[in-house]
Amino acid sequence: MAGSIINNLGSLPVVFTSGQGSTLTDTEGNKYIDFVSGIGVNCLGHNHPALVGAICEQAARQIHISNYYNSDKGLSYAAALLAKTGMDRVFFGNSGAEANEAAIKIARKTGALSDAEAGKKPGTRHVIVTLFKSFHGRTITTLSATGQEKFHAPAFAPYTAGFRFIEANNYEALKTAFDDSVCAFMLECVQGEGGVNLVDAQWAQAASEAARNAGAIVIADEVQTGIGRTGAFLASDGLGIQPDVVTLAKGIAGGIPMGACLARGKAAQSLVAGDHQSTFGGNPLACAAASAVLDVLSEPGFLAKVAEKGDYIRSKVSAWKHPEIINVRGKGLMIGIDIKGNASAVQLECLKKAGPQSTGLCISTAGPSTLRFLPPLVITMKEIDDGLDILAEVLGS
Ligand SMILES: Cc1ncc(COP(=O)(O)O)c(C=O)c1O
Repeated sequence: MAGSIINNLGSLPVVFTSGQGSTLTDTEGNKYIDFVSGIGVNCLGHNHPALVGAICEQAARQIHISNYYNSDKGLSYAAALLAKTGMDRVFFGNSGAEANEAAIKIARKTGALSDAEAGKKPGTRHVIVTLFKSFHGRTITTLSATGQEKFHAPAFAPYTAGFRFIEANNYEALKTAFDDSVCAFMLECVQGEGGVNLVDAQWAQAASEAARNAGAIVIADEVQTGIGRTGAFLASDGLGIQPDVVTLAKGIAGGIPMGACLARGKAAQSLVAGDHQSTFGGNPLACAAASAVLDVLSEPGFLAKVAEKGDYIRSKVSAWKHPEIINVRGKGLMIGIDIKGNASAVQLECLKKAGPQSTGLCISTAGPSTLRFLPPLVITMKEIDDGLDILAEVLGS
């Protein structure tokens, strides 16, 4: 079934052909409620008229130019995103890892500029502090930034030097984490791949202050939490921190590959022409899709509904008091459920529920015993209830 595609996440036994709202259809015509949304990408679900309309219209007008030039769509989308986030400048790429690579380069260059100002050798201030259990991408450098040993397999060594890890929500760790070798503190506001772990707002504020006091900038990796997923446009807003750099990808363009690295203040000034570039980054098609997503997410009440739906799922699943379920947590529509059994087995059973007379359920996992829900932000209450019924049936009584 995998054909000639290199097996990357492991292939589940289903081939999808289409989708509508938060429901997917496979080659046999079977239906599945989608609690995965392409790992937090299809924020407007499948076949959303505003997104499809914007993509078709832009495709007929102009798909790609190059970053030698500006496009009208690129400029208008950048202005709208910066206005929405209060940031000063944006770099567009195509993925979360690429957005984080840009953030790391900004951090290193900002550090080198402050070294030069202080009369020190450029590169003195180069260390980036990130969190244990974090996930920042699959390139060698973003793997190096990732605070999980399983992502540092010897087969891919050597990794990029200059990363230091601390434990989230640990105040003691803040006493020694930051010194004048540190150029940035990089924070995943809710750790998605690492198990849907919440970062405490007060700790995030204390860590940001400690980083700034040591002369470092603060980077929020919002590739999964942005935009809108946690019920706030940016999860860093919810934590009460104002990062110098924010990275976005996944849902930003509703499924068209896109990443963004936003910066403000001195971090926004550090990169100059020639320092960084990406051939496809921010092409007019991606920017048209992203504009459509931004418009929908900016509709009054949209984000409040995301928060409500997340609360509803968490309280409903908690109320089951199911003996198999250990813990339910999350923020908005980023939800983790720890179970006693094997999460991959439950994931597979949920899929297998699909048939001529019944609907299946797509869920993802985050670790061996954590089920992860990242449904489309537009999911309806009926789809939520239907999906949870399938999960309840799989977990049994
Ligand atoms: C927080 C975070 N950062 C970075 C990435 C990497 O994004 P991508 O797979 O688009 O490169 C991910 C992907 O899951 C992520 O969750």
